[in-house]
Amino acid sequence: MRFVDKIDELTLDEKVLLLQAKNNWSLNGVERLGIPSIVLTDGPSGVRLTAEDERGTIPATAGPTEAILSSSWDTELVRKIGKMYAEECHYLNVGILLGPGINVKRSPLAGRNFEYYSEDPFLSGTLASAMIQSVQEEGIGTSLKHFVANDQETRRFTSNATVDERTLRELLLKPFEIAIREAKPWTIMGAYPKLRGKHCCENAYLLKTILRDQFGFDGVILSDWAATRHKVASHQNGLDLETGSFDSFDELKTAVENGEISMDVIDEHVRHVLELIQKVVDGKKEVEIDWDAHHKIAQEAARESIVLLKNEDDILPLRTTDHVAVIGKFARSPHFSGGGSSAINPKNLDVPFAWIQSYAKADFALGYDSEEEKEELVKEACEIAKNKDAVIVFIGTTEITESEGSDRTRLKLSESQIKLVEKLYSVNQNVILINQSGSAVELSHLETMAKGIFHMGLAGEGGGRAIADLLFGKAIPSGKLTETFPVCIENTPAYPFFPGVGNEIVYQEELLQGYRYYDTKRIAPQYEFGFGLSYTQFSYSNLRVSAEKITDDQTLSVSVDITNIGTVAGKEIIQLYVKDLESFYYRPEKELKGYQKVMLAPGEIRTVVFRLDQEAFAYYLPNLDQFAVETGEFEILVGASSRDIRLSQKVFVKSSIDVRPLLEESNTIGEFYNDDRYHDITKGILDQLTIVENSELFPIAAGITLSDFHRFLRYFQVPDEQGIAMEKMILGLA
Ligand code: BGC
Repeated sequence: MRFVDKIDELTLDEKVLLLQAKNNWSLNGVERLGIPSIVLTDGPSGVRLTAEDERGTIPATAGPTEAILSSSWDTELVRKIGKMYAEECHYLNVGILLGPGINVKRSPLAGRNFEYYSEDPFLSGTLASAMIQSVQEEGIGTSLKHFVANDQETRRFTSNATVDERTLRELLLKPFEIAIREAKPWTIMGAYPKLRGKHCCENAYLLKTILRDQFGFDGVILSDWAATRHKVASHQNGLDLETGSFDSFDELKTAVENGEISMDVIDEHVRHVLELIQKVVDGKKEVEIDWDAHHKIAQEAARESIVLLKNEDDILPLRTTDHVAVIGKFARSPHFSGGGSSAINPKNLDVPFAWIQSYAKADFALGYDSEEEKEELVKEACEIAKNKDAVIVFIGTTEITESEGSDRTRLKLSESQIKLVEKLYSVNQNVILINQSGSAVELSHLETMAKGIFHMGLAGEGGGRAIADLLFGKAIPSGKLTETFPVCIENTPAYPFFPGVGNEIVYQEELLQGYRYYDTKRIAPQYEFGFGLSYTQFSYSNLRVSAEKITDDQTLSVSVDITNIGTVAGKEIIQLYVKDLESFYYRPEKELKGYQKVMLAPGEIRTVVFRLDQEAFAYYLPNLDQFAVETGEFEILVGASSRDIRLSQKVFVKSSIDVRPLLEESNTIGEFYNDDRYHDITKGILDQLTIVENSELFPIAAGITLSDFHRFLRYFQVPDEQGIAMEKMILGLA
C-alpha cells in the first residue's frame, strides 16, 4: 500500500505533524503506519550533513560552488556532479538535497551569489535542470531554491521586493519555470523575503497561481528554514511543509478544529508530503563510495570551470622547468567554498601550492593574512618574487565576506592584496593572478599589473589541483564567465538601488540586469558575460538557418562550423543570442538562447546545431499576461562571448497572435499614425486638415494625445463635437 492511500487512517495530530519538520534535518513520519522520517540536508555544492554528536559536519566531496561550476557551461559535467552528490546522499542516508539555488544576480555584492549559477535565466534554468535530473534519477530529491526574489542577504527576513511583472517573469521566475518544466524537482523552497508586501512562504500569487496553476508544479512546497510567519496563512496560501521551526502544532491544529482552515486543504498538503516520503523510500539504495573517484570528479569539474581572463605575451602555460614564486594565503588555505549553510567539510582538500610544487620548482610566501597590509609579509614576498620566472599571486574574497546572511560591502579586494600586487609588480613584471571569489570582483587596477589572470572562483576540494593543471598546461582552460565582471561597482545595474532603503527593495533596473544592462546601455565591462580564453583559438564560419521566415509554432535550426585553428586540443563554448530588432515594449539588447561546449583537436572542424523554438523569441507581454512572440525581425547572433559575436543572420518570425495592446486615448496622434492598425484612418483625418508628413504642423499634431485632439482642432475651427467624433473614429469606435 502506498503512503498516500493511508491518508484516511491518519489522525488530525498525525496530519498536522506531517506538515512540519521534526527537527532541523528530518521530517516527521508516522511510525504506527510504517511511514518513516526522512532526512533533508544542504546543499548546492555537496552534502552538508550535520552529525548529531559533536563531530560537526560529516566530510563529503566539496564540489565547485554553483557560480563557478556554471562557467563550465557543461550540462553533462553538472550531471556527473549531481550523480556524485546523490550517491553520497544515499551513503549518508539523506533523502533530499537542498539545492540547487537559482536566484538572480542583481549585484555582484549579494552575499550568496556563489550559490547561484548565473546572471542569465536561461543558463541558470538549464544547468539547474541538469543538476535536478541527475540527482533525482538516482532516487534522491532536490529542493530548488529560493522561491523567489531572495537576491540579497541584507534584511533577508524582513525585506520587501517590489518587482514589475516583466522582470519577475523574464528574469526572476524564468530559471524556476525552466527547471520545473524540464526536471520536475521533488520540492521547492519558498524564500524568506516578501514579494509585493507578502512573505514568499505565504504568498498565494507565488505559490498557488504561479507555481501550481501556471507552472504545474506538483511536488512539495517547503519553507526556507524558519521562514514561516503566520503558520495558518502559509498553509492556506499554498505552503505544504514548514521547516526550521517546530512550534506550529497547536496553532494549526486549532485552526483546523475551529474551521479556519479546511480539512481538504490539510489533506492536499499531507498528500504532497506523503508522496515525497514515498519517492525517497522508493529511491533508497545501498551504495559504496569510491572517494578517490569522487575527488577526481571534483578536480575535473574545477578544471572545466576555472576561467582564463588574461594571457598577455602567452605567459601561460608555464613550463615545468620554470622556477616560480607562489604568493598569498589562499595558495595554502584555499577559499574553496562560501560561508553559511552550503559550506562543506571537504573529504580531501587539494592545496594549490602543493600541486604547483609537484609540477615545478616553487617558493611560497604568505604576502597577507588579513585586510591590512603588513610590511614584513610584503617584504618577504618581494624577496621571493625577485628573479623568478613568474609570480603567481593568489587573491580573493574571504568566506567571511561571502556568506549567507550578509552582503559584501565592496567590489574591490582588500588593500593588503592590492598593495601586495603593486609591490610584487615593481620587482617582477611576470605576475599571474589567481582570483578566488564567489562573485565578480574589481580587477580594473590589478589587471594592469598582471600578464595572466585566472578566475578560479570557489572551486571546491579539487580546485588546488585544477589550477595547477591549468597553469602548467596539463589541461587547457575552457571555462567562460557566467557573470559580468564590471569595471567598478558604480557601473553595475542595481548600483544605486542595492541593497535597498530599509526593508524596501525596488528592482529599478528592471529587465536590465547582467549583460542585458551593459549591452543595452553600451557600458564596457572589465570582462563580459560569456568571456574566457583558451590556450588555443577557434574560428566561426558558415552560419546557416533552416529558414529565413518562420511562424511561431515552427522550430528554427541554426548551424555554424567551429574550427580549432590553434596547435593544441581545446574546448570552445559557442553561444547563441537572439536580438529582437523591433518590438512594442522595450527589450534588452540581446538574450542568450543557446550554448554548446565542444572539444576539438587542432585543425578539427565541427558543425554545431542549435534549435530555437517559440521560447527563444517570446517575451512577457504585460497586456496579455503571458509570454508570446511579437511578429517581426530578429537577429541570430553566434559568438564566443556576449561581446565577441562572430556571425549573425536575420530571420522573420510571424506570430500566431497580434500581441500589441490596442492604443488608448492617452496615446499620441503620432503613435496612432505610426501603427499600421490605425495609420490609414489617422492619416485620412490629418490629410483633411492638410497636415501631411514633413509639414511644419505635423510634429505638433503628432505630439498631441488623442484625448486632447479635439482641443487642438479648435485652431482649425473644428467644433468640439466633430473633433471628439474624429477621436472616436481613430480609436475605431465610430
Ligand atoms: C538557507 C537555505 C538552507 C537552509 C537549511 C537557510 O538559512 O537560506 O538555503 O537550505 O537554511 O540550512
